[in-house]
Amino acid sequence: MNAVLSRPPALDRPLVDAAFLADPYPAWRALREAGPIHWSEEFFGGAWLLTRHADVEAVLRDGRFSAQRTGGWVNQAAAERGALAGFQQLFARALLFLDAPDHGRLRTLLQPAFRPEALARLRTQIARFADELIDSLDDADEFDFIARLARPLPVRVISAILGIEGADRAEVMAWSDDLAAFIGAPEPSQEQARRAQASLLAMTRYFQAQLAAKRAAPGDDLLSELLKARERGEIRDEAELLAQCAMLLFAGHETTRNLLGNGLFALLSHPQQWARLREDPALVPGAVRELLRYDSPVQYTGRRVTTDLMLHGQRLRRGELVLALIASANRDPARHERPEALDITRADPGALSFGSGVHVCLGAALTRLEAEVVFGRLLARWPGLRLASTEPPWCANPAYRGLAALPLRRA
Ligand code: HEM
Repeated sequence: MNAVLSRPPALDRPLVDAAFLADPYPAWRALREAGPIHWSEEFFGGAWLLTRHADVEAVLRDGRFSAQRTGGWVNQAAAERGALAGFQQLFARALLFLDAPDHGRLRTLLQPAFRPEALARLRTQIARFADELIDSLDDADEFDFIARLARPLPVRVISAILGIEGADRAEVMAWSDDLAAFIGAPEPSQEQARRAQASLLAMTRYFQAQLAAKRAAPGDDLLSELLKARERGEIRDEAELLAQCAMLLFAGHETTRNLLGNGLFALLSHPQQWARLREDPALVPGAVRELLRYDSPVQYTGRRVTTDLMLHGQRLRRGELVLALIASANRDPARHERPEALDITRADPGALSFGSGVHVCLGAALTRLEAEVVFGRLLARWPGLRLASTEPPWCANPAYRGLAALPLRRA
């Protein structure tokens, strides 16, 4: 037998099914225990899956793995080549999908809005949003945490940062959901692709109107800063500007919601941990880091191989897709003691939930701040909070893991 196989046999059964969506961790564990690298036909027509912390981190920091990975999805999802050209041309220009030098140029422009000084100014505003949403529930004994808090709060926050209005309208949120369903699907259907394209174009029109208003009356916000960068030529054209706006709104809508939902569900499913936080709210920031490790809202991310290379005895060829399994890495026993246990007092778990390297999440500090504020306010105001259902429904999205609803009782 060859010491080096050109490709190992593909996984013999699909990973993603209803049980996986409810709890992917047994499957990630089985995959990790079976080996560090697997070939799967289930994702985007074929991809390498990396299961270990060390490899996931290394790949995300290694320039031989490119962040430019959207072409494959789009061509593969389109019935006819080019049917999704509009989507590809626009979304592929978002920071998340770019390599140097474009990546560095745009990241420098976006970063100031997410720095600690800017976030310190936002803290009071986030607390006010959280209190308003909690106040609106005062006469409800039972409510859906996702619909009433986890969904609206991050939208208000990203709207304040960007300086936009109307992003909390149901149709605007639905556009983001369509993008998430497409980007997060292992094999996007024609219908998912079509909806994602229509929603991205609708989002673009929405931002064109917001930008026109901002040009007429600039403010102290990120959109105004981006318009100035466009005038200086640091943003190349309108499409590049719109791609960053769509990406930020999408990130603002989808990910923090899932951190709030997954995190609160994990805490309330472990009442002793909730009780510890009630006794000592100073533990909240550490708890948020642990919740991110324990049930990561982003389960995996992709890279494209730019040059043939060997990894764990396998030949990875130029152009192939690699999925860095963040959620598996976060439960790797080689990196974390008792990885399956939720322990809010864990020393900094050093998880990979925000990625690593040059693409490390731009919104990491923001999203942590939002979760700290929300969990802090809930502990203070409703210490007796508990689950109304121990099996809430999960969204059918293996990449962006989150609850569709989280029914809670106040006491
Ligand atoms: C719980 C919440 C969040 C999680 C788990 C998360 C996770 C991630 C991960 C894993 C990456 C790296 C992806 C890769 O390397 O391929 C990333 C990148 C990014 N995130 Fe987040 N994110 C969250 C919230 C946010 C928020 C609230 C924003 C902005 C409002 C944001 C904006 C971004 C941007 C712009 C990038 C691309 C950075 C770059 O390419 O340089 N994220 N995020």
